[in-house]
Amino acid sequence: MRTAVQENSGRGCLYQSVAEEISRLIDQGMFRPGQRIPSVRALSRQLGVSVATVLEAYGLLEDRGSVEARPQSGYYVRSRSRARPAEPDISAPAMSPTAVSMGELVMMVLRDASNPDLVPLGATIPGPDLLPTDRLNRILSAVARRKGAQGASYAMPPGCEALRVQFARRALEAGCTLAPDDIVTTSGCQEAIVLSLQATCRPGDTVAVESPTYYNFLQAIEVLGLRALEIPTHPREGLSLDALRYALEQTPIHACLAIPNFNNPLGGSMPEEKKRELVELLAGHEIPLIEDDIHGELGFAEERPRAAKAFDRKGLVMLCGSVSKTLAPGYRVGWVAAGRFQKQVEHLKAVHNLATATLPQLAVAEFLANGGYDRHLRRLRKAAARQMEWLSRAVARHFPEGTKMTRPQGGLGLWVELPPGIDALVLYERALRAGITIAPGPLFSPKQRYRNFVRLNAGHWSDRTEKAVKVLGGLAAQP
Ligand SMILES: Cc1ncc(COP(=O)(O)O)c(C=O)c1O
Repeated sequence: MRTAVQENSGRGCLYQSVAEEISRLIDQGMFRPGQRIPSVRALSRQLGVSVATVLEAYGLLEDRGSVEARPQSGYYVRSRSRARPAEPDISAPAMSPTAVSMGELVMMVLRDASNPDLVPLGATIPGPDLLPTDRLNRILSAVARRKGAQGASYAMPPGCEALRVQFARRALEAGCTLAPDDIVTTSGCQEAIVLSLQATCRPGDTVAVESPTYYNFLQAIEVLGLRALEIPTHPREGLSLDALRYALEQTPIHACLAIPNFNNPLGGSMPEEKKRELVELLAGHEIPLIEDDIHGELGFAEERPRAAKAFDRKGLVMLCGSVSKTLAPGYRVGWVAAGRFQKQVEHLKAVHNLATATLPQLAVAEFLANGGYDRHLRRLRKAAARQMEWLSRAVARHFPEGTKMTRPQGGLGLWVELPPGIDALVLYERALRAGITIAPGPLFSPKQRYRNFVRLNAGHWSDRTEKAVKVLGGLAAQP
């Protein structure tokens, strides 16, 4: 026990590490429901931490519902009276192409997401303690000094070569054999998606998307004058291929835009065989798959899953990614391997903004080559998994009876289905007044379905977050 606590000490949340260790021992059955856990003084002696730290840790466990204090007697493991809420069902959208009109709603949520006074349960952004910002900034300064004029000049499409070499290397772990020249660097994954849509679709065309889907996809579809076709999606296994097959027979579809690994907002990851089938199904119709793999390296298991691009034999899969979830969203560094659309994407990139800023590209390239990225990733994945577990437990404990939630296998979003009749947009307003931001469900559908769903961010965690979940659960239960 001591090692893990010591490892975490100095990061400012010692009591959370203590609480986590006790939780682990409870989960492993070392302490069973009804049994007493070590006294505050005994644990403080054993761990070499203060009595106040242990008291805070036990208070946190009490808040989470894992233990209860019995006067004059100590702390006891609670029986698990409330099982973990069920998972939402596979979605069942009406499958007809829709013009999209999301703008104002999405902008409101984006604006609130950058307000530091609000508890950030809205946008799925990793907290500052999860990112190696100091190290990355130091690398950027060193690179700026070393590269001189090169750092201040354009890195014209396809973009900075050192970075493309690193991305190509990392793509191997996703099962993709790419040359640096197969890759265009972009200003984040969002630009990679927009360029891919522009390279493959014309105004009025239809794009098949998962339902629910990431709201910025819908914004892009709206602005480009495209239509979205929602496809039923399983919370753990992704797009329904039967439904997609049916849609392909019924409607002209010009591209499919999906997040097979650690979907946003569902958190699920399509099994490998299904990815292969998806790629083959679309290839049979000569339809491009725009694959958003931004969370590919953020799975909770040891190994990262392969990308659908690994099964691409016709150059029809456009693999998009970025370092926004793993290194620095503000550096705006992303990429796309656009297959047979490579030249169009390079051209469009130049038309949009000539090139992505050079220095962040060089700094990220250096970090990936020599900055201990894999070590950082291992830590990040563990922390994300842990925070997702805490968030899930807090929702299970504080949200109204009848709430359902997903079982994310990676990423930072937890998709929560509230009991019928609870309006996520009303909850959004109430939460805002209580100093909390969330992402309401209707954002994730062009027909603004998911009225009683919210997505919560597991990227930030502190006792402020835990309290906010409790407040949110109370607000949801209000008539
Ligand atoms: C699924 C998904 N794709 C793309 C983006 C945007 O990424 P970037 O900041 O790299 O543009 C996000 C950000 O939250 C995301 O969740």
